[in-house]
Amino acid sequence: MSGIIEDVATSFYVTTPIYYVNDAPHIGHAYTTITADALARWHRLLGEDVMFLTGTDEHGLKVQRVAEENNCSPLEWADRTVIRFQDEWKLLNISNDDFIRTSERRHHLSVQKLLQACYDAGDIDLQVYEGLYCVSCEAYFTEAELDGDKCRIHGRPVELVKEENYFFKLSKYETRLLEWYENNPDFVMPKTKRNEALGFIRQGLQDFSISRTSINWGVPLPWDDKHVTYVWFDALTNYITAAGFENDSEKYAVRWPGIHLIGKDILRFHCVYWPAMLMSAGLEPPKHVHVHGFLLVGGEKMSKTRLNQIGPSELVDEFGVDGVRHHFLHDQPFGPDGEFSHEGMLARYNSDLANNLGNLLSRVATVVEKKCSGIGPAPDPKSNLSKVVAEQYDLAANAWQRVAPSEALDAVWRIIKETNSALEQSEPWKAEPGPEVDLVLGDALEVLRIVSILTAPVIPDSSAIIWNRIGLSGRPEEQQLPQSARWGQYPGGLLVTKGAPLFPRLK
Ligand code: MSP
Repeated sequence: MSGIIEDVATSFYVTTPIYYVNDAPHIGHAYTTITADALARWHRLLGEDVMFLTGTDEHGLKVQRVAEENNCSPLEWADRTVIRFQDEWKLLNISNDDFIRTSERRHHLSVQKLLQACYDAGDIDLQVYEGLYCVSCEAYFTEAELDGDKCRIHGRPVELVKEENYFFKLSKYETRLLEWYENNPDFVMPKTKRNEALGFIRQGLQDFSISRTSINWGVPLPWDDKHVTYVWFDALTNYITAAGFENDSEKYAVRWPGIHLIGKDILRFHCVYWPAMLMSAGLEPPKHVHVHGFLLVGGEKMSKTRLNQIGPSELVDEFGVDGVRHHFLHDQPFGPDGEFSHEGMLARYNSDLANNLGNLLSRVATVVEKKCSGIGPAPDPKSNLSKVVAEQYDLAANAWQRVAPSEALDAVWRIIKETNSALEQSEPWKAEPGPEVDLVLGDALEVLRIVSILTAPVIPDSSAIIWNRIGLSGRPEEQQLPQSARWGQYPGGLLVTKGAPLFPRLK
């Protein structure tokens, strides 16, 4: 041993759900993906070793049926539709490090390895099962869990399905799951969702079927290839597939356990089934599951049947990529349901981006041009704004840690608003050029420097433009936090460019 302790960066592994390829991407999918992206970008700024995963869920009855309706094989269908998700994420500037498709070979091998481990642990056996099945959920329900004969989530009739299935002995894990929750109070967040999961476990767990013989589109069971793996068992495994579970133990040791972001409708799978599956195989459950509510349109959940789905690209045309990202991160707190409306989005864009941030930038650039010949002065080391920045930075960092981007952005916007008020008070545009004006403008430029770092996870393109307009080279996301947010690093003597309005006001 050399005795040298290596400086190993903290590993941060964050995932989105993998999206079904039977549906087109809509803003509900975009919401989770943008949040995970911003979180990944924030942790990269902290210098952590980040892996951010998203992907598509391509097996199961639902996809097989759509493919049949479209006269193609499920794989052809998936190949065609996966592009819609990949294009959408490219458009939204999503910085995922990997994109997993459950139809990939690496995933098949990983699912089979996990299944075999659960089987070897004695947790999988063959039973005959008859139950009410919702194809949209890909899940069985008891009568008590339905509205008449309809699934509560999709409002569509369930089907009576009778199959010989392999079952996973979930019931065996009741006590261990309760212990896990007890010992890991932050396992599921927010608290309300943790209670929901706990309530479900306390009610008593039933074994669930993990195979199907009625379809062939899926991963064959390693010990009985007449059966394909149930789509949820298959899908959940994606998180460890991409972490190297099947064939890369070094990567796996660094990556797993990770952090999941999910919507409330898939809580049971992530907070109950998944940790039990992992425990059975002798693997660690995820670190945290962060659960968010639904975006509602006109008070209702979006769905294909209600024709109220909104595609993210429609919004990008109007608000720009950063306008869309900023809206979902600042206006839609992570946790409760949120109402999506065009008016709300417009109001947020105009107030935060056009009036506050955009205005600060254009004001400062204009006055620097007039009073300082376009050369940005250095800030006042003792400026009052330095305290504001320090306080709000701490709040923002804490909020990101809790996956509360809207609170983090409230803090950043307090800095921006304070700076605008400070400018309004000192009115440098009216004053004679000189050292006093220089300090006021230097402070504002320093705020812009710091704000462009703090907003880089949210509005990456715009923050880079701000960074360059105040004369800095490189990009804000190349900086490291918390050091780069400390007051006093704008060097002064840099050329400030005015440029076109960054966020033109929208009507
Ligand atoms: N394929 C499964 C997930 C498997 S993860 C191992 C699935 N896919 S989905 O495409 O139907 O949904 C993916 C995510 O989108 C879920 O987290 C769901 O909550 C989310 N949303 C779908 N509609 C939504 C809104 N209207 N608002 C916010 N998110 C919603 O489930």
